[in-house]
Amino acid sequence: GKRIGILTSGGDCAGLNAVIRAAVHRAAGYGWQVLGIVEGTQGLLHRPVKYQTLDLGNVDGNMMRQGGTILGTTNRGDPFAYPMPDGTVKDRSDEIIGGYRELGLDALIGIGGDGSFAILHKLAQKGGFPMVGVPKTIDNDLGMTEVSVGYDTAVAVAVEALDRLQPTAASHQRVMVLEVMGRDAGHIALAAGIAGGADVILIPEIPYSIERIAAKIQEVRGSGRNFALVVVSEAVKTLEGTGVKKILQGGEKRYGGIGDYIGEKIADATGAETRVTVLGHVQRGSMPSPRDRLVASAFGVHAVDLIAEGKFDRMVAWSNRGVIDVPITDAIKQYACVELDSALVKTARGLSISFGD
Ligand code: F6P
Repeated sequence: GKRIGILTSGGDCAGLNAVIRAAVHRAAGYGWQVLGIVEGTQGLLHRPVKYQTLDLGNVDGNMMRQGGTILGTTNRGDPFAYPMPDGTVKDRSDEIIGGYRELGLDALIGIGGDGSFAILHKLAQKGGFPMVGVPKTIDNDLGMTEVSVGYDTAVAVAVEALDRLQPTAASHQRVMVLEVMGRDAGHIALAAGIAGGADVILIPEIPYSIERIAAKIQEVRGSGRNFALVVVSEAVKTLEGTGVKKILQGGEKRYGGIGDYIGEKIADATGAETRVTVLGHVQRGSMPSPRDRLVASAFGVHAVDLIAEGKFDRMVAWSNRGVIDVPITDAIKQYACVELDSALVKTARGLSISFGD
């Protein structure tokens, strides 16, 4: 039998454990051994390599329901240009490849997003080891797959937040601003905004102006409803092209906080009492939704099947109600933003939701 490694890399999300569980089940079906590498590629840098044996005795129980990743993860350090404590940068790729060899693995399953896949692909090429990828990201910004693990749960958390903001908004006649994650893609904001009955949805793909947001809020008030829900994706841009980093004067922090700025501007422009909620990492740590569990399970099984078939350098993907696999390099190349002519953008416009444009 084979011995395969599995690791989670980059930001965590709901459903990672469901992927691991499914892969272990499928591997057990083939009579293979599975080693879980701890803390992503960091585990392979460690000597001895940090890993744990995964089998049906330790993955079944409650694992599919648990958020996070039992293996731990990292988004620290590209091993090809690894930031050392002394401030220098070092190529540590050979150490990682050495770690992989130390475990005597026949193949590796990497659960990651675009950044992790780019690194894992490069390592696999250099080390000559077989690798397959499972897409995960709450942002749903990976190309070549309709969904990534973690997205559905993040949307569900954001919708739940809107469900809870609506009654308090209505009771106090307030404008409630909800800032959600998503990096440079507005998928979470768009889906959650529609499902949660938002009046305004701001996404990075559609630049906004405060005047147009204010006009929409006045229109809502004119219709006799004295509250409004506004969803703001974390990396929105103004019509003049001013991005979040400039507005927030960047610093180390990438995103997080633009909601406060927009809330203040809305209050100034409309006179409405405005409150802001920044949802943040709550979107990542939830119990996976049924949909995420299904996608994760299907992906975990298919990833192991790819190894059985000797098909490598592929990413499992969701397409047209099923699981397929695509070249991992194609997935890395395509950053999947919200398309302006997509069904959900049309739906939002059809519902007279304003994008602030
Ligand atoms: O990519 C997932 C994500 O949660 C983004 O939505 C967000 O911008 C970022 O990661 C947050 O990163 P960190 O967990 O490092 O703060």
